[in-house]
Amino acid sequence: MMRDSKYGKKTSLHSIVVGWVSLVLGLCVLPVSVGSVAFAQEDKVQVPAPEWRGLHVDVSRHFFEPAVLKQLMDRMAAKGFNRLHLHLTDGPGWRLEIKRYPRLTAVGAWRKLLPAGAWNWKDHEIGNHFAECYGGYYTQETMRELIAYGAKRGIMLVPEIDMPGHAYASLVAYPELALEPPPACKLGRDVWDVEKEHVRRFAKEVLDEVMALFPPGTPIHLGGDEVEPHLLSFEQQRVFMQEMVDYVQAKGYPAITWDEAACNGVRGQWVMLWRAERQAEVLALGMPVILCPNSHFYFDYPQSEEEAAPGDHVITVDTVRSFRMPTGANVLGVQGNVWTEHIRTPERLFYMAFPRAKVMAEAFFKEDNKESAEK
Ligand code: ACM
Repeated sequence: MMRDSKYGKKTSLHSIVVGWVSLVLGLCVLPVSVGSVAFAQEDKVQVPAPEWRGLHVDVSRHFFEPAVLKQLMDRMAAKGFNRLHLHLTDGPGWRLEIKRYPRLTAVGAWRKLLPAGAWNWKDHEIGNHFAECYGGYYTQETMRELIAYGAKRGIMLVPEIDMPGHAYASLVAYPELALEPPPACKLGRDVWDVEKEHVRRFAKEVLDEVMALFPPGTPIHLGGDEVEPHLLSFEQQRVFMQEMVDYVQAKGYPAITWDEAACNGVRGQWVMLWRAERQAEVLALGMPVILCPNSHFYFDYPQSEEEAAPGDHVITVDTVRSFRMPTGANVLGVQGNVWTEHIRTPERLFYMAFPRAKVMAEAFFKEDNKESAEK
């Protein structure tokens, strides 16, 4: 465990003793009346800035040039963020060069260009053979440059290779990985056939290249979200994800998964909590957790009622600010997630990420003496 800070570390500041009153120490702020003298017994809770101050960008749905990520890191560093989580792979595009499997990017990083604004899975076609293609990817050399750029600014890049679902682009590139071959497996059925030896070997060889690229100790995010149990049983998912978690951890890279894997019994990794309704269940597991609940920290959701369509969950700056950090749990920190189905341009990316990211930083990143962690 590489934790250097913890929520709820108490610093007693008792300094007032009045007359004969001997009060029980260790209570939260408690106004006490002694005769006509009223005072506040201070027992403030030192809340250090969390270890994980993250922003996530989905570069699969839409690709963002390295220069945009550098600009983003500049803005992040100015606000006190220290982790940039890159969602590098998903159904609509594979964005990191893997030398052993060149078709992942030669084929899987490209798709038929759709009219601006259109986002409909059934219209998406992966491949590089269309008259007009949309896409792009980071070469390993570019990724090294981005890692170094972030490191100079105190920002660690955290790569995510999402498995075993959200895999459509990789399945078009290598159909032999598929449980159900493309194109039939679009729309949430795009899953690797994890029981197959060659599929597990593929996953590990991809992870080998990712680990060779990122400095030892960098957490490797393995995804693990949103695979329906009628495709892969929970037990099949658990066994596969546990094998991958153990694989990277044995090589000195902490593993992260989305909360599904933890709820499904995978152990030993850090957990990214995104399903707000599962927060209590995940915290009770006692595993290290990064909080990015979709109730408060999904920055692709509309940020005002004016921008929302009927039924949308609106996340305003006040929603972000209103989040209550749980105490007593193994919380590494918080993260804002920017999914990009409907975010195509750098301007829109920045517009959606900030000012909510700024408010997140103001509310949660400062060293602070909160009056009481229970408040
Ligand atoms: C997620 O939003 N599926 C992590």
